[in-house]
Amino acid sequence: MQYQSFPGQSGSSLSVDKLAGLRLPDLAHKRFLDVGCNEGFFCGFAHFSGATEVIGLDKSSAAIRKAQKRFPVCTFLNQSWDQLPDGPFDVILLASALHYAADQEALIHRLASLLSPNGVLVLEVGIAPGSGKRWVDVTRSIDQCLFPTRAMLTKVLKPYAWKIIGHSVKQKGDPLQRYVVHIQPLKPFIYLLLEDSGSGKSTISARLFKDTKTVELSGDVLFKQVIYNKTEAPVALKQLIEARFTEYQVGDETKRSYNWGDITKRIIAAGLLAELVDFWIAHLPENTDAALDSYVPAEHRDEVVRLFSERGFMPVMLNWDQSNSVSSRKQDLQQIEAYEHWLKASKTKLGPEVRVKRQQVAGVRFSLDRPTQASRLLTNEPVAIAGWVVPEKIPQSGMVVFARHHDSYIEVPVKRKRNDVLKKVFGDEVPAEYKSVPVGFQLDVDQAWLKAGFTVGVKVGEDEVQLAEIRGLSEGEATIRAAYRKVRGLLKPVR
Ligand SMILES: C[S@@+](CC[C@H](N)C(=O)[O-])C[C@H]1O[C@@H](n2cnc3c(N)ncnc32)[C@H](O)[C@@H]1O
Repeated sequence: MQYQSFPGQSGSSLSVDKLAGLRLPDLAHKRFLDVGCNEGFFCGFAHFSGATEVIGLDKSSAAIRKAQKRFPVCTFLNQSWDQLPDGPFDVILLASALHYAADQEALIHRLASLLSPNGVLVLEVGIAPGSGKRWVDVTRSIDQCLFPTRAMLTKVLKPYAWKIIGHSVKQKGDPLQRYVVHIQPLKPFIYLLLEDSGSGKSTISARLFKDTKTVELSGDVLFKQVIYNKTEAPVALKQLIEARFTEYQVGDETKRSYNWGDITKRIIAAGLLAELVDFWIAHLPENTDAALDSYVPAEHRDEVVRLFSERGFMPVMLNWDQSNSVSSRKQDLQQIEAYEHWLKASKTKLGPEVRVKRQQVAGVRFSLDRPTQASRLLTNEPVAIAGWVVPEKIPQSGMVVFARHHDSYIEVPVKRKRNDVLKKVFGDEVPAEYKSVPVGFQLDVDQAWLKAGFTVGVKVGEDEVQLAEIRGLSEGEATIRAAYRKVRGLLKPVR
């Protein structure tokens, strides 16, 4: 009796409708096996859809003969499913046939074992109503067979990732609803944290996976282990990992600093990304979910996903906002250069250039540390005057520092103790009478004073000692000085 339907030859099964219900994955460039293929309707479709190799298998010699006639490009095997062709297959179909198997559960496992890592077993099967994990004996118009309850199917498919895709076509006299189930090898998850350095990869990995069964793998740590001969790596990788480093001293010890991100880039540039993925996988326990924390440049991350997927993993890429990550050195330098330009262009916001003219003074040693020669203040910033003064004789009444500008005058006591200064002036033998004498001073004056200039001095007892004259250059003077500095820089001594 004709089972499958072809144009002009209708059988008891509406093959086109069944095909629509199967929701087969894309078959282009795939290896396809149809178990219990009958006259090869679905094999023909696989060939039509671009599958590279199509094999149909059926114990009925009549069905196989017809199948081979219809689709000579496909391979048809007239044999029982007790003997299966060698895998792996990308797609295996077992439609309306499981119930004929003496050991249905074993057949499912044998077919699943022939799947490629990303392969799919498409099972079209009747599911018996009722609860409990049971095989239910169902009498149909044509025969009497065992069909699984939903709970039994769930038990049988426990070792796989599977999903009931939907109902299959209804056939005349069917006492049961038929379903289409897609079954895939259960793959370990690989959570990919490949973002840039400083984006928080390790923190996220620790938060998500610490105290779970997911194994955390750090690409940087692995590189380090290779460098210190704690783990093996293929020669080509090892050479690239060890190739470049910067040396630095810690005490007597010379240490090496490596840039892990740079190593990854060089490995990729050498065309060894697949080897790197294999190297990572070699450090993972089999069939265990894992999280990989290792920088990979953005343009190569899809490739990493593909490589893990090809190797039987279920890659899950983790992405997050990383606006606060460490910037790249190149970007950094560009930004800094731009900032410098901006700073230079903002000159107008600065106060005048400061000139400091120190006086020759007898009887005191002093230093005027601030303001420094040719420094520039921000607009309206007060002129900070700071330094120290050590007189030959210590006055009874202490010292004050003063600033005089036209008829304005301010003074503050010299009140900072500066042991460092006393040591500098007297060496290790600081005279006892100086030991507790404050010699450091600090005083702020209005920036406007720079225009006409002002005097800074100290009063040592009754004596007034002028230390320096301080003034700001006018715009004209500043321009001339800048030009002079430029010319001096250009002139090279002639020998
Ligand atoms: C109901 S038909 C389904 C045909 C096809 N899969 C479809 O859905 O159109 C079941 C097929 O399984 C085949 N079959 C039954 N037992 C088999 C076995 N032990 N080995 C191989 N094929 C078998 C039959 O010959 C028949 O062609």
